[in-house]
Amino acid sequence: MAAFATSLLANDVVFSKDVAPILYRNCTGCHRPGEAAPFSLISYEDAAKRGRLIRSVVENRQMPPWKADASTHAFQDERRLTDAQIGVIRNWVEVGMPEGNPEDTPSLPEFPAGWQLGQPDLIVEMPEGFTVPADGPDIYRNFVIPIALPEDKWIRAIELRPSARPIFHHVLYMADASDASRRADAADPLPGWSGTMGAFFVSGGGSLGGWAAGAQPHLLRDGLAMPFRKGSDLVLQCHFHPVGVEMTEKAVVGLYFADSAPERELVSIRLPPLFGRFSGLDIPPGEADYRKSDEFVLPVDVEGVSIAPHAHYIGKTMKMTAIRPDGVVETLLSIGDWDFAWQDQYYFKELVSLPRGTKIRAEVSWDNSSANPRNPSNPPVRVTWGEESKDEMGSIALRVVARNEADRPQLETAVQRHLMRAFMGGNR
Ligand code: HEC
Repeated sequence: MAAFATSLLANDVVFSKDVAPILYRNCTGCHRPGEAAPFSLISYEDAAKRGRLIRSVVENRQMPPWKADASTHAFQDERRLTDAQIGVIRNWVEVGMPEGNPEDTPSLPEFPAGWQLGQPDLIVEMPEGFTVPADGPDIYRNFVIPIALPEDKWIRAIELRPSARPIFHHVLYMADASDASRRADAADPLPGWSGTMGAFFVSGGGSLGGWAAGAQPHLLRDGLAMPFRKGSDLVLQCHFHPVGVEMTEKAVVGLYFADSAPERELVSIRLPPLFGRFSGLDIPPGEADYRKSDEFVLPVDVEGVSIAPHAHYIGKTMKMTAIRPDGVVETLLSIGDWDFAWQDQYYFKELVSLPRGTKIRAEVSWDNSSANPRNPSNPPVRVTWGEESKDEMGSIALRVVARNEADRPQLETAVQRHLMRAFMGGNR
C-alpha cells in the first residue's frame, strides 16, 4: 500500500509546477544566458535534455555549488537543496521527466540589470582589458586599479560588474596601500600579473572580501565596514574559466562607503597565521592525508561575522571549530571536499557570540596522491608553501568584532602575539 502511494506521488511530479520552481530559485542565477554556468536551465527542453545529469549533480551535491557542509550556525545565502527538493528531481527523472501543464510554470525570478545595491559611492574600472583565450587551463590573474584613495574610507560593500560574465568565476578584493601591486603589474608585459597573492597578503595587504559567480553582493550588516586607507589601490584577484570563445574582461567595480567609522572594527583571526607561511608545510609526494592545525584562545568576548578558508589545488578538507569554556564544541565551518575553483566567503546569518576563553581550532588537510583528480602534478611532487598555485597554502580566517569595542586592542595584541609565536617557532 505504502509503495503504491509513493509511486502515485512520484507520478504526479512534473516540470511546470514541481521542478521549475526549484530550478528557478536555485539554479538560474547562474544557469541562464550570459552567466557563468555552461548552459541554461530555464525552459522545459533545457532541463529535460539534461535530466539525468541534473539528478546526479544534485544528488551528490555538486550543484548548486556550495562547499560548506552543514554546521552549527547557518550562513547567509546558503546554496543548498533540501532532501525533499532533491527527492522531487529524482522522482521527476524516474517517471520520465513529464512537462505537465506549461501554464503552471512560474515566471522567472527577476534579475535586475544595473547595480544590485544601488548607485555606488565610487565607480572604478580595470585600466586595460585582459583577454582570456577560447581554450586552455583556468587562469588566475591579479589586477590593480590605481585609485590612490585621497582619504581614509570605510567599505560596506563592493559590487563587481564583469564585462565577460561567462568566463568570470570569482574574484577576491584587496586593498594595497603600498606600491607593491603597481610594481608587479609593471613587471609583467600583459595587463595584471599571475600568482595567488599570498605574498601580497603576507606583506600586509588588507582583504576586502570577494564575489563568486551566482552570488549576490551584500552590504555588511550591523554597522560593520572594512577599512580602506588613504593612498590605497584596489587589487582584484580573478579566476577565469575559458568557455570556447575568446573573451576580454574589463570589469567595472562599485564601492559603497559607510558615512562614518563603524562603532566596532573587524579583526581577522587567521589560523595558522599568514596563510600557513610558518607552519612548516612540506607535503611528500603520494601523501593522501597531510594535516596542519592551529589553535587560538579568545582573550575577550567576541562576535563572529564571517569565515574565509584558503588553500590551493590539493587542499582537501577545512575545519574550524569553537570549543567553548564549558566544553561544548561547535562547528563554525566544515568543508569535506575543498575546491580551489569555488572559494566562497561564508557570512553567518546571525553574529555568533563566542565568550572569552573559547578555543578556536583550525585544521586543514591536503591530498598529494595521484588519486586526487585536482592534483596539478602527475606523478605527484613534493609541495611546500608558496605563492604559485602549484605550491600550497592553508589557513582559515575568522572575522570577528569584540563584543565591547574597548576590548579590541587586547584582541589585536593576542592575534599579533600568536603570529609572532608562529614566526619564532616555525620559520623553516
Ligand atoms: C553559483 C552558480 C551556479 C549555480 C547556482 C548552479 N550552477 Fe550548475 N554549474 C555552474 C558552473 C560554473 C558549472 C560548470 C562547471 C563548474 O564550474 O563547476 C555548472 C555545471 C553544472 C552541470 C554540469 C555538470 C557536469 O559535470 O558537466 C549541471 C548538470 C548543473 N550545473 C546543474 C545545476 C543545477 C540543477 C543547479 C541548481 C540546483 C545548479 N547547477 C546551480 C554554476 C552554477
